[in-house]
Amino acid sequence: MAKRQNYGFQKRQKETEKQKKKDEKAEKKRARREAAEPTPAEGDAGGEEESDQPDPRQGLSALDPALRMRLHTLCEEGWELWARFDTEVRQRDFHPFVAADYQAVLEALIPLRTPGLRFLEWGSATGVITIMADLLGFEAYGIEIDPALVDQARELARRTDSRATFTAGSFIPTGYHWRDGGGDDRLGTIGSGDSGYLQLGMPLEEFDVVFGYPWAGEEPIMVDLMKAYGRPGARFLLHSAGAIKVYTGGREAA
Ligand SMILES: C[S@@+](CC[C@H](N)C(=O)[O-])C[C@H]1O[C@@H](n2cnc3c(N)ncnc32)[C@H](O)[C@@H]1O
Repeated sequence: MAKRQNYGFQKRQKETEKQKKKDEKAEKKRARREAAEPTPAEGDAGGEEESDQPDPRQGLSALDPALRMRLHTLCEEGWELWARFDTEVRQRDFHPFVAADYQAVLEALIPLRTPGLRFLEWGSATGVITIMADLLGFEAYGIEIDPALVDQARELARRTDSRATFTAGSFIPTGYHWRDGGGDDRLGTIGSGDSGYLQLGMPLEEFDVVFGYPWAGEEPIMVDLMKAYGRPGARFLLHSAGAIKVYTGGREAA
């Protein structure tokens, strides 16, 4: 099994600080550029009409500063929750929760956001990514097998004024059976339990964007599950080896 990348909380903090500085610099640059340029209304009466649709080329620096600040605060809280969980739970017993690279996930979600799209996080843990998706405008849901983590996620949603919905259960739909090419049906760290879709009242095929962060070796299970039960055009964001891969219909996008 390849080594997981996310154990170093201090490293994360440094990365968050670095990213924050980069964001602030980019924001100042953008503000300077905007101040120097006429708005379409001032400069060009026949210019492009403003659209409600997000520009898919937009990155983090193009987000509304207030939203960016909310997302930044959310990630900071997320890292604090993770550090506490690591000390209080993971250093005593094995637990499959390891926090994703929030910044990388955020950057992958920004170009996908479109009003009305439905987002699902498989194994939503403390809820940071599902809440991030809600703040970005998705209708966002998380399924997590550990009820104590579901409570933490709901509490974080309340504190961050998010409408993200969390349910306790399994992201594996009833009836799904995994077998690799050699007939091995082991699911690794993926737990078993009642399907979370029943409680959500929505099958997997009703989601437009699905996110999963598997342990090494579990990627093929998630890709297969999405291919078998997901909507054919839905996007599956797979957090793997520090990068976010995007799959549609079981194929990785170029
Ligand atoms: C590697 S962590 C990812 C946490 C979070 N998605 C993130 O990226 O920060 C995997 C999470 O999936 C949960 N989990 C494991 N099996 C599950 C299942 N069958 N259904 C729902 N959640 C599951 C674990 O409890 C853990 O919180």
